[in-house]
Amino acid sequence: MGADRPQHVLLTGAAGFIGFHVAGALLDAGIAVTGVDSLNDYYPVTLKTDRLARLTGRSGFRFHHLDIADHAALKAAEGALQADAVIHLAAQAGVRYSIDNPFAYAQSNLVGHLSVLELVRHSPARPRLVYASSSSVYGDTATAPYSESERVDHPVSLYAATKRSNELISESYSKLYGLDQVGLRFFTVYGPWGRPDMAYWTFTRDIIEGRPIRVFNNGQLERDFTWIDDIVAGVVATALRAPATPQPLHRVYNIGNNRPVELGRFISAIEEAVGRKAEKIMAPMQPGDVRATCANIDALKRDYGFSPSTRLEDGIPRFVRWYRDYTGT
Ligand SMILES: NC(=O)c1ccc[n+]([C@@H]2O[C@H](COP(=O)([O-])OP(=O)(O)OC[C@H]3O[C@@H](n4cnc5c(N)ncnc54)[C@H](O)[C@@H]3O)[C@@H](O)[C@H]2O)c1
Repeated sequence: MGADRPQHVLLTGAAGFIGFHVAGALLDAGIAVTGVDSLNDYYPVTLKTDRLARLTGRSGFRFHHLDIADHAALKAAEGALQADAVIHLAAQAGVRYSIDNPFAYAQSNLVGHLSVLELVRHSPARPRLVYASSSSVYGDTATAPYSESERVDHPVSLYAATKRSNELISESYSKLYGLDQVGLRFFTVYGPWGRPDMAYWTFTRDIIEGRPIRVFNNGQLERDFTWIDDIVAGVVATALRAPATPQPLHRVYNIGNNRPVELGRFISAIEEAVGRKAEKIMAPMQPGDVRATCANIDALKRDYGFSPSTRLEDGIPRFVRWYRDYTGT
């Protein structure tokens, strides 16, 4: 790694939900951020430009509108090769969308990941690379709580398969070129400026608007919801600090909450925050979905002091307040 404490971070997916919050935290800490994002239209682009508008003009922030899979464009972007840490969050997210749009995942998640690795490999400072993986790599057969030592060879969606591929490609790059890398398996992140494709957003919207909500797998689902600020603290720690104990050059961690919540409790928390009961339509399990996610977070705790503290009952009302304010509903 080029510097003891990075002064300049290249951040992919800077206009995305997690990227936007990570950018803000880095700037708050006095670290310069070169952000890149393709501003794709997987969900409304205005949400991305609204996030960006809050970063643009902040001291130390610069932005490039580009596709990371276009390696020549990424390499040519001012500041990209000069970063002393890289946080790579750009990806085609979502499980269900991959059923109709498989090539978007190959392009952003496979070619894009390789493009970032090539950039890091040729960056003079040899920056540490922190990249986003996903709890979806555990599929539906792993034993909860999932720990990083589980075998993850049975993805149930293309999205999950691309995220697992990222881990394998990164492993090969650390072996081949000595790159310092951290892969983070995120578990359902929620919070203000969040993602309109995720259940906490659609349920909040539909309950506010008095529309019925579709409850998949008859409510027999559990998710390890993780509050955005807890996630940001973990991402920033892995980018800025060395692990407390010596670790392999490429290490993969769960970053979750270790407190899975049943769908029913999750819906109740939204109902309470909104002040209205949901009309529920029971629906079957969706292709590519998994029944439960639950993170064992001991490794990230041990190496980086990761300690998520926000309970769903505190986070959901904060999200709902932000949602009402942002949408004016
Ligand atoms: N939010 C979660 O619960 C969650 C869970 C598991 C994994 N993740 C992973 O964390 C990362 C960030 O997720 P998020 O929730 O902020 O998603 P997001 O969709 O809000 O952000 C991703 C950003 O990347 C950008 N992007 C996509 N393809 C690109 C490309 N080819 N070039 C440049 N930019 C591109 C998008 O425009 C978007 O702004 C993703 O890698 C995602 O797969 C998130």
